[in-house]
Parts: sequence; structure tokens; C-alpha cells
Amino acid sequence: MASVDVGVALLGYGTVGASVSRMLAESGDEIERATGHRLRVIRALVRDTAKERSFPAADGVLTTDFAAIRDDPNINVVAEVMGGLEPAGGYVRELLRAGKPVVSANKQLVAREGAELFATASAAGVQLRFEASVCAAIPVVKVLRESLIATNVHRILGIVNGTTNFILSRMERGDSYADALAEAQELGYAEADPSDDVNGADAAAKMAILATVAFGSRVAIDEVETRGITEIEPAHVAAAADLGMVVRLVGIATLANEAVDVRVQPAFVARSHPLAAVDGAFNAVMLQGDAIREITLEGPGAGGTETASAVVADLVSVVGTAGTGFLQNDACWRELDRLDPNAWRSPFYVHLDVADRPGVLAHAASRLAAHEVSVAQLVQRLGDGQAALDLVLHEAPLGQVAAALAEISAFPEVLGRPFVAPVVSDRSL
Ligand SMILES: NC(=O)c1ccc[n+]([C@@H]2O[C@H](COP(=O)([O-])OP(=O)(O)OC[C@H]3O[C@@H](n4cnc5c(N)ncnc54)[C@H](OP(=O)(O)O)[C@@H]3O)[C@@H](O)[C@H]2O)c1
Repeated sequence: MASVDVGVALLGYGTVGASVSRMLAESGDEIERATGHRLRVIRALVRDTAKERSFPAADGVLTTDFAAIRDDPNINVVAEVMGGLEPAGGYVRELLRAGKPVVSANKQLVAREGAELFATASAAGVQLRFEASVCAAIPVVKVLRESLIATNVHRILGIVNGTTNFILSRMERGDSYADALAEAQELGYAEADPSDDVNGADAAAKMAILATVAFGSRVAIDEVETRGITEIEPAHVAAAADLGMVVRLVGIATLANEAVDVRVQPAFVARSHPLAAVDGAFNAVMLQGDAIREITLEGPGAGGTETASAVVADLVSVVGTAGTGFLQNDACWRELDRLDPNAWRSPFYVHLDVADRPGVLAHAASRLAAHEVSVAQLVQRLGDGQAALDLVLHEAPLGQVAAALAEISAFPEVLGRPFVAPVVSDRSL
């Protein structure tokens, strides 16, 4: 078989970049057999060419000169595995304008500057792919953009942050939040500064990208209603266990009545639900649509080799579809309204600490009923003049639940603020 040489450049040669280089070297024969193309890394942009690398680059490959990549006619495609908004964003724009297809692993860049980058790619007639930016090894962007193109996906449930899933899985086994976070850091799942993971920002960026691709309408990160896991206490995890549930940080994207809602928050997930089985640092995305009912993709959501697998897949897709080129187009083709958050419906879990006095429960139930919210399950624990109430509410609009809880919080018998989380249990569409 005649083979075509494809010159590849990397922006970045760190954890992911070095893994891409290793994978292209070690799997070069298989890729060539399958595609008829030999992908060779001929340049990689770094800050420090003298630094030790986990997979050393061949002599002359590392450079600190971006123009040497942009202006090299032998470079056919570039993988941006550098991270950050700048200079990565500026480099990607310049490369696209110079007619070079780009694949990116950078969720912040794609989520924040996707509109402009796709416009640039479209104007230049080159492809921009971003599979690795969401859930690393899980091929969810390709599935949404290609495999499920005609299925009207209207709901996405995702566990899209491995660090928080690891922490919550450990808390389920009895660890404290602090111990679980320390272990995640020791194992390399969490950064020294884990803020973006635990406050939900990382998951929000990924859910914004997934909703944008699935619904064909741009969702900005700042529009994602986001709550992290820092407020989760062992008591919440224990209450979930008593109710036959587990606590997970869940991203939920909903398209209803031509309006969109995207949120990331701790949710109580029924043990029978596929997302409850996602343990440790794994990620999972459940796609629900008219024609497909539901499809769940699960796998490693981070890691050098895992992320490199998606980068290499995008590189192969670029060379496999060069010339046909629909993927340089922005996935967005319409503007959707935002669903009124008060109208967003879900079953909810509520925890209340109350003074142990007669009538408190009936009083709370009457406020819920006044807002047409009904109770599906109730667990009461008594102790030392206080009672802890764990309630599971039937599906209701968020606004009605919030209004009832605002009234309940004002009772003198209610101690502290109620804790609320959506419950993920039904698999019905
Ligand atoms: N690691 C993961 O598990 C994972 C998972 C999914 C997505 N991603 C995404 O993949 C991207 C890369 O992540 P990573 O973990 O591989 O990061 P990393 O290990 O920190 O590597 C970054 C690379 O970019 C280079 N670089 C950074 N700023 C530069 C600049 N201004 N000029 C030239 N070179 C520069 C660095 O050069 P030096 O080596 O010389 O410092 C390094 O080689 C990020 O967007 C990240 O969000 C990573």
C-alpha cells in the first residue's frame, strides 16, 4: 500500500504531548495500515527545550519558536496540548488562518473561545477538532457530532470530573473529605490546587461544550449553574446510603421546549442508575434522545495516555476526512432561549435539621404541599433534642421546591439552612 507522510506538530510536549508523541511512534505501523498515512511528529513547541521528557523527542523536534511551526509547509496538522487561554488561543487562530487543521485538548479554550475559533476555521476552510477536551479517552464528541447526528439528543447526564468522583467514592467508604482529597492528590488525580475540580468549574466547562455540541446552540461556561462538592459532608453521604443512593457530582444538560438548561451540582443518584456505578476517577456520559432512548459512555476522563488516545483519534480523523471538511463548521446553528431555572424539574433530596418538637414534620409537609410538592420518602433520625430529616421529593419545578424551603427555613424550629440536591433515579425519557 502506498503511504502518505503526514507532518504533525504539537503545541506543548508535557504530560499529554509526550504521550501523543509516544503513541504515534509506537502505533505508527497500525495507524499506517489502517489509514494509509504515516503520522510523524516533526516539531513540538515548548518553553524549555532542555527539560527532561517522559518520552524524549527526536533531535531538532523541540522548539521555542512558534513561527517555525506556523510557517513550515511540511506540517499538515497541529495538536494543541499546551493548555491555558493565551498564548494557546492566539497560536490556534494563527495556525487556522495559515490553513493548518488543529486538534485541541483544551476545554477552557474550546468552551470560552469556541465561537471565534470555529469562525476562523470555517473562513480558512480547515478543521478544528476537540475530542480530548471533554472526558479524555471517551469519544463523546464524535458520537454526538457524527454517530447521533439525527437523534435529537435532549438530555445529557454526566460525571465529567474524575477528581470529585474519586473523592465522593472514597467518602462513600467512610473517608473524610480532607483525607479523600489528600489521597486524590497523592495518586495524581488532583492538582496541588484542586479548586477548579472541587468547585465544579472544570465540570462546568465540559458540560458547556457537551451541551453546545448536542443542542447545536452555544452555551457559555458562565451560564452553567454550578455547585461543587466542598459543602458535602459525611452526613450527606450516609443519608444517601440510607436512601439507597450515592452522592455524585453530576452535570445535567436539558433541552425542553426549545430552551436549554445546563447545571453541575452534587446529586443523589439511585444505586440502580448507571451513573451510581461510576467509581473512582472514571467519567461517564449518558445521552438521552428520541431515537436512541439512551446511550452511556464510560471510561477514563484524564491522564496523559488516555487524553493522547483522543488527540491521536482526532489527528487520524483530520487526515481521513481532509478535503471533505464539514468539521471546520461550528456545531452551532441556532440560538436557544434559556429555560427559566424555576421551571427546571427534578426529584430532589432535602436534608433538614430541626428541633425535636411535636408538629414540625407536619408543618414542613404542609408548606411543601402548599407549593404542590409531595414527599416520596422520609427518614428521621432523633438525637439530643434535635431531629435530622432526610426527604426525597417527587419531581417538581425547582422554583416551587425553593419557595417551600424558603418558608420552612423561616420556622423557628429549623436549625441552619436546608441542604438540597437533585435526585437522579429514573431512566425513563
Ligand atoms: N493531563 C491530563 O490528564 C489532561 C486531560 C484532559 C485534557 N488535558 C488538557 O491537555 C492540555 C495539556 O495538558 P498537560 O497535562 O499535558 O499539560 P503540561 O504537562 O503542563 O504540558 C504543557 C506543555 O505546554 C508547554 N507550554 C506551556 N506554555 C507554553 C508557552 N507559553 N510557550 C510554549 N510552550 C508552552 C509546556 O512546555 P515545557 O514542557 O517546556 O514547560 C509543556 O510542554 C491542557 O489543555 C489540559 O487541560 C490534560
